[in-house]
Amino acid sequence: MNILIVGGGGREHAIADAVGRSRKDPSIYAVMSKKNPGIAELCEDFLLEKETNVEAVVEYAVSNNIEIAVMGPEAPLAAGLVDSLEAAGIAVVGPRRVVAQIEFDKAWARNFMRASNIGGCPKFEVFTERAPMDAFIEELGNVAIKPAGLTGGKGVKVMGDQLKDVDAAKEYAASLLEGDSVVVEENLIGEEFTLQAFVDGTNLAYMPTVQDHKRAFESDLGPNTGGMGSYNEAGGVLPFLVEDDVEQARLIMKHTVAALYEVTGVGYKGIFYGQFMITKDGPKVIEFNARFGDPEAMNVLPLIETDYVDVLSAIANGTLDKLDVKFSNKATVCKYAVPAGYPDNPTKDREVVVGDIGDALLFYSSVYEKDGKVYTTGSRSVAVVGVADSIENAEKIAQNAIENLSGDLHSRRDIGTADLIQRRIDHMNEIRAN
Ligand code: AMP
Ligand code: GLY
Repeated sequence: MNILIVGGGGREHAIADAVGRSRKDPSIYAVMSKKNPGIAELCEDFLLEKETNVEAVVEYAVSNNIEIAVMGPEAPLAAGLVDSLEAAGIAVVGPRRVVAQIEFDKAWARNFMRASNIGGCPKFEVFTERAPMDAFIEELGNVAIKPAGLTGGKGVKVMGDQLKDVDAAKEYAASLLEGDSVVVEENLIGEEFTLQAFVDGTNLAYMPTVQDHKRAFESDLGPNTGGMGSYNEAGGVLPFLVEDDVEQARLIMKHTVAALYEVTGVGYKGIFYGQFMITKDGPKVIEFNARFGDPEAMNVLPLIETDYVDVLSAIANGTLDKLDVKFSNKATVCKYAVPAGYPDNPTKDREVVVGDIGDALLFYSSVYEKDGKVYTTGSRSVAVVGVADSIENAEKIAQNAIENLSGDLHSRRDIGTADLIQRRIDHMNEIRAN
């Protein structure tokens, strides 16, 4: 079977790795903007091209007799790549543009959630004018401000983090109005977690819950990043959650997939990603994404026991209900090595040398290969993953591995440590007690 992977980051390396472990001996092809050495090694052939160049990707897929195309990042979904591949007769694991909107249009997503009575929707309004927006910010008192679209640069800002008070929130929201509509919503207080599911149009197969770490520096300080690392607990329920929290999150996602079909007439196929805040009132939806998380894909994909080509086929054919999608009962800790100065002033074009990483898994992200050597770009470089019976042991494997990468790199030592996990548990205990 010929399988095309679209994307060239750490998430896509983990996808390629899962496909490569299939007993069906698939031939892997890839489209990536830069040569990711990990993906390249697993491939029959690859095309160095922007993933959003729809025409070039479709032509490449057709000429290589691709049977299933697997989407990695969000940009090609917004560019309509799935729709065009399907029109060319190729099965795709990834949602069509109209349903992928749930990720790339935050105003549409919130309005859809409200209209469809999706649980866990925070108080929000969407604005195009300043006066009513200021009034709503004052009414809520504690807010998160989001530009409605996928914006390069200016992103979500939250009071207490990037916005010091109501006035700062008003100013930031007003500055966004110039280019876009603005979503103002209540600031959700709790702990964040990610729940991902495989979806075949109707049926969902859920993955273990994962916690990502957005902040660049230890103790959750510094600017937001794409994610510095993540962990999951053996058995799938994070240490600060209870089974019922996860069950509620699953129901929210299931209801959302059904409602997306009712509203758009298009079944959601691919990976559905729920980012939740567990609050004193249960799980609330921060956002939905139409793809695997990066780094979260690197926690769950190494644990998958079901043949991944069978999973992809079941998504494409609408037969997930007939497949038992199993994950091994292990904990993982993923840590990203990023260029020094990332995300604000990253160094670039520095060589990365991988030393002895022991039992850890390694996934290349935003790096490129030249003359057999690997170099950084300005984005996250290399991720290592420890897999073990406990988070504590998985952390040791990951930390040891990351210390054996050399280059002008930075990483967070605290991710997955007993100390940090205890703080998450204490934080939730405190919130639930009130
Ligand atoms: P981004 O990845 O740039 O979209 O940033 C999203 C981050 O903003 C999330 O990881 C949350 O930490 C935070 N966030 C978004 N919406 C809310 C909200 N309603 N309440 C609290 N935090 C939020
Ligand atoms: N790790 C967060 C994301 O992929 O959106």
